[in-house]
Amino acid sequence: ESGVALIKAGTLTTCTHLPYAPFQAKDQTGKVVGFDVELIDLVAKKLGVTQAIVDTPFEGIKSGADLNSGKCDVAAAGMTITDERKQVLDFSEPYFDATQALAVVTGKEVKTLEELAGKRLGVQGGTTGEDYIKAQVKEKSLKIEVVSYKDLAALQQALSTNQVAAAVNDLPVWNEYIKANPGKVAVAAGFDTGEQYGFAVKKGNAPLLKAVNDALAAARSDGTYDKIYKNWIGE
Ligand code: ARG
Repeated sequence: ESGVALIKAGTLTTCTHLPYAPFQAKDQTGKVVGFDVELIDLVAKKLGVTQAIVDTPFEGIKSGADLNSGKCDVAAAGMTITDERKQVLDFSEPYFDATQALAVVTGKEVKTLEELAGKRLGVQGGTTGEDYIKAQVKEKSLKIEVVSYKDLAALQQALSTNQVAAAVNDLPVWNEYIKANPGKVAVAAGFDTGEQYGFAVKKGNAPLLKAVNDALAAARSDGTYDKIYKNWIGE
């Protein structure tokens, strides 16, 4: 008996915000797959239940609202662990390292934020990338028009149709987009924000947090984590 209480018997309900490939996105058949999905599947297996995924805006995930209201048991959304979010969520051990990156349509010569003066820069609403860019714009008094999009798909669409001169998001997400759409978009610059992703549970849900951490530790030690990493992220 794991002592883990789930909102729906026999199911580990996961909140995420689609799409966020390679961490979670629908495949051709409409099934949600990805790096995070496979890691949470290990947690579900450990609990003897199956994972069910709920797609919901990132705002409700990072604010703790979805976990608090019982919409889901766990949040898995390529979500960066931050001090602010730690106030409202309990995070697992870090499971992925990430940085921010600036993407442009291939052939556009941009290397720094300064060069985007007078232009539009796209970000994803509610994310650490948005926070980072807004802080940079303020600190350096940059004359950039920052435009926030509601999800990653909208941001990538805006970039590829030239509604913005460049776009910022997590580097692994751009790498995945470039793999899926070769030649269209390029990473022009990186920002070493030193982020780490964590899974989150409702504050105080120690039994579930332990199950998540135990599953992660087991996957790290038996090679499963490396296999999943290689499969979704690469070497
Ligand atoms: N890592 C970034 C953050 O925590 C972006 C996460 C966005 N995730 C998503 N599933 N839409 O803010």
